[in-house]
Amino acid sequence: MTDINERRVVAAETGALSSARLAAVLPPVLALLYPWSVWCFYISTTAVRESSGRAMALPLIASAVSLALSATPTIVSYLMLVRPIERNDRFVGTRWITYLAFATPAFYTAERVFFAMFRSPADDRYLWTLIWAVLVVVAAIGRPHRLARQPSWAGQLRVMHGVAAASIVVAFLIAHFGNHLAALFGTQAHVDVQDALRLWYRNYVIEPAIVALFLFQVASGVTLASIYQYAQGDRFRTLQVATGIGVMAFLLAHMTVILIVARAQYDLNTNWLFATSVRTGGILSNANNARQVPYYLFATMATIGHLACGLRIVLLGYGWRVAAVNRLAIGIMCAGAVVAAAIMAAMMGLRLS
Ligand code: HEM
Repeated sequence: MTDINERRVVAAETGALSSARLAAVLPPVLALLYPWSVWCFYISTTAVRESSGRAMALPLIASAVSLALSATPTIVSYLMLVRPIERNDRFVGTRWITYLAFATPAFYTAERVFFAMFRSPADDRYLWTLIWAVLVVVAAIGRPHRLARQPSWAGQLRVMHGVAAASIVVAFLIAHFGNHLAALFGTQAHVDVQDALRLWYRNYVIEPAIVALFLFQVASGVTLASIYQYAQGDRFRTLQVATGIGVMAFLLAHMTVILIVARAQYDLNTNWLFATSVRTGGILSNANNARQVPYYLFATMATIGHLACGLRIVLLGYGWRVAAVNRLAIGIMCAGAVVAAAIMAAMMGLRLS
């Protein structure tokens, strides 16, 4: 009898170990395969543009499926991150890889931006495959982790991070999203709104202040993420850390391409023509440009999701009911998905008037 019980315990431990290893390995494997979902998206949207009538149906479905597939590293990583951490989990120490895999669309574009910055014409998918293959091996080997105590200053840093986020939203972000949504009413509307907004944010005082605030967010965000990455049991807190890493990776790409590559290196006007890659043939004209579609969708949703999770914590601090605050956060995230889809549709040519 004791023998049977012992064997059951061993079998349960082996099963738990295998599922923990699978949970650690799956996100980097999906991140490794990500370029192929973007490539399928590009090929199928090209087929849509080259077909007409009923013949469009199949490529249209293929475009939707490949775009959905490009979201799998993000979705699966999140599901793996919210799994309960077992006491003897040998893979807790590789959770950072799962967080990186969550931000796959942002890192994939960041890589392209760095190739552009160094004026390299090479196919960056080889480097991508190499990096993620190494991360798959690291995740498969695993690393245990001792839960450390939070440093005493973590609370103050969170408050500063929140105040800076609120300033960015008020001073820039609402207007920036509004600018992109204006394109739904015509390209000229986007240009006019941007010209008006530039009077506000493109000057010697406001622009450095906005950039400094974003840099502070990245630095403080990395510090907070490294402290809270092992926090478990709260789906919103996990989402807050994961979307924070997503926004950080996005900003790395976005600020580098706009401030360094476009404006400093090539002296380009970072207007509508730049945003929609008109100079290089359009946003769906090649596989490199097409990666911007899942990238911008991810960035807008991650940014709004991150803000919603932050607002939730603030309101809980003011004594709001948990159920009400959770509903509000989910509502804001759904609205964020609509805003992201609307901006992307506008960039791809949808017009409401
Ligand atoms: C679909 C989404 C987005 C698109 C197409 C987009 C595009 C652009 C473009 C074209 C500019 C240059 C603006 C100009 O020259 O006047 C810009 C600037 C910028 N964007 Fe975005 N953006 C998007 C989302 C975001 C998000 C989510 C953030 C922040 C989390 C962000 C942060 C910034 C910052 C900080 C600047 C620099 C502003 C400056 O000139 O000082 N963007 N973006």
